[in-house]
Amino acid sequence: MRSRTMRRTAIRLRLAGALAAVLVAGGVAGGPAAQAAERHGKEPTLADLAERHGRYFGSATDNPELVDEPYKALLGSEFRQITPGNGMKWYATEPQQGVFDFSQGDEIVNLARANRQKVRGHTLVWHSQLPGWLTGREWTAPELRAVLKKHVQAEVRHYRGKVFAWDVVNEAFNEDGTYRESVFYKTLGPGYIADALRWAHQADPRVRLYLNDYNIEGIGPKSDAYYRLAKELRAAGVPLHGIGLQAHLALQYGYPTTLEDNLRRFSRLGLDTALTEVDVRMQLPATEEKLAQQAEWYRDLTEACLAVRRCVGITVWDYTDKYSWIPAFFPGEGAALPWDEQLRPKPAYFALRGALGGK
Ligand code: XIL
Repeated sequence: MRSRTMRRTAIRLRLAGALAAVLVAGGVAGGPAAQAAERHGKEPTLADLAERHGRYFGSATDNPELVDEPYKALLGSEFRQITPGNGMKWYATEPQQGVFDFSQGDEIVNLARANRQKVRGHTLVWHSQLPGWLTGREWTAPELRAVLKKHVQAEVRHYRGKVFAWDVVNEAFNEDGTYRESVFYKTLGPGYIADALRWAHQADPRVRLYLNDYNIEGIGPKSDAYYRLAKELRAAGVPLHGIGLQAHLALQYGYPTTLEDNLRRFSRLGLDTALTEVDVRMQLPATEEKLAQQAEWYRDLTEACLAVRRCVGITVWDYTDKYSWIPAFFPGEGAALPWDEQLRPKPAYFALRGALGGK
């Protein structure tokens, strides 16, 4: 057993090495560099380790951060999958009705291509981050149906062959398992979900289609609602391929101990699952104790995914506390990710390595 300090030092050296390799390669970070590093006997990345289990390990990223070169280098080398944090959302992609702008999503797709990473598309239908033209007026059902169909199909068509999966509908349920009263639900009824899935499938018959939500990691009213809906949709032949469990966890609310059982019941329906937006936040300040507990949670959720065959991968909701969404949305909380604000690996990073079978 190497001491923690030795491991830290080894990691720092490895990071420095990876960065140097990237700089030598002319500023192109990524998959090739990571593969070369592995060939030359350096320690495997999280993505390398996950791949040995047939899983991907990924990170969200966002356009404004891509000017940060050290950040970008690690994003390119440590992960084999990325998700745009905002760039493919409705407000960004259809800022005026019928006028599409895919520039932000394209930037991320191009970066992924350079780094040989795959991309999860996020997200087509959601109550949040909608453009003003959509939220600022009333719609009849036929009008909104046409607007929704056009949006879903234009975006899925644009990214055909460029994303391997889509979060088609995001956050459709309330905590008690009733439907969220979004403009789509209120105007179109629950059938908007099956419609969106069918429209997406028409536009790209190969892409994997997901429903995605938070607080559905454990078994409870909200994940039960997904279980029932998924069963119904499958029985009706609606193209649904997976359930995304966001996994925005918080130390103060306890670990979802039924995660593995929950993943397994969706597998039994013939569905893939994925942990799509993982972070483990805590009340600040972070202490050594809290960071140790956080590391255990990262380990446990990784082990749960590895234990269930159809849990296809894990994505952290960005990888460094420098760019986490948590402090802005949960005042007083943070330190949620496996790398700190200086891009130094935290105990959670080493726990992930351990859970994935690395040293
Ligand atoms: C967050 C982004 O990370 C932020 O930058 C943005 O301001 C708000 O949305 N669930 C989701 C994600 O599905 O799209 C959210 O992302 C986090 C919660």
